[in-house]
Amino acid sequence: MKYIKFTIDGKECKGKDGQTIVDAAKDNGVYIPTLCNFEGLKPAGTCRICTVKIGGRNMAACTTPVAEGMVVENKTPEMEDMRKAIVEMLFVEGNHMCPTCEKSGNCELQALGYRYLMLAPRFPYLWPVRQLDASSPKLYLDRNRCVQCLRCVRGVMAGGKHIFGMVQRGGKAMIGMDDDLASKLTDAQAKKAMSLCPVGCIIQKEVGFAVPIGKRKYDARPIGSEIQG
Ligand code: SF4
Ligand code: SF4
Ligand code: FES
Repeated sequence: MKYIKFTIDGKECKGKDGQTIVDAAKDNGVYIPTLCNFEGLKPAGTCRICTVKIGGRNMAACTTPVAEGMVVENKTPEMEDMRKAIVEMLFVEGNHMCPTCEKSGNCELQALGYRYLMLAPRFPYLWPVRQLDASSPKLYLDRNRCVQCLRCVRGVMAGGKHIFGMVQRGGKAMIGMDDDLASKLTDAQAKKAMSLCPVGCIIQKEVGFAVPIGKRKYDARPIGSEIQG
């Protein structure tokens, strides 16, 4: 196989033809943060947390393929501050009360907040009014925590149909469920939807807080440490 040679922050890396920068970086032991990206799902490029600089331009590393001789800037102060700002924006544009959230300790947004040492966000809180949807017998949607990554839309199907989709437009756009499919969800589908959601918007009913503090996913291992220290 012919490898593509490129660098990330000066480190020489090898990638495969058509591979995204995020995936190639991972293979080379380099962590680039992601939120909307998920292995096995077609990249959507919605959150921009994976932004890197290539030839002076900011690019989403989850949708940009590696190219021969590419010079990628990843962990520079500029990129890291931009990512921190994106995390802060995601916090202020929703309603995130981590101590009461069932996803706390297993939440990618919260873990990124810790990674970027977020204290008080530099942006004003918007305190939006968002409806919950608990109509499905198996799960509920707490839209206060949704980051509109579309992982649920891309990854959760029933009988070839999408269970989740965006409803309404513009500033009112929010995640919704197909009422009929949502009423027939199996435990396995609800579990998959909850695990695919990076935050605590999709919560399977009757499993909240099942894992005690200290044993949750990010209690012992900060996000990104599985790829890079
Ligand atoms: S979804 Fe994540 S960031 Fe939001 S309240 Fe829950 S744990 Fe905190
Ligand atoms: S419900 Fe979860 S998975 Fe779906 S768009 Fe919102 S944050 Fe993403
Ligand atoms: S992870 Fe690349 S845009 Fe979201």
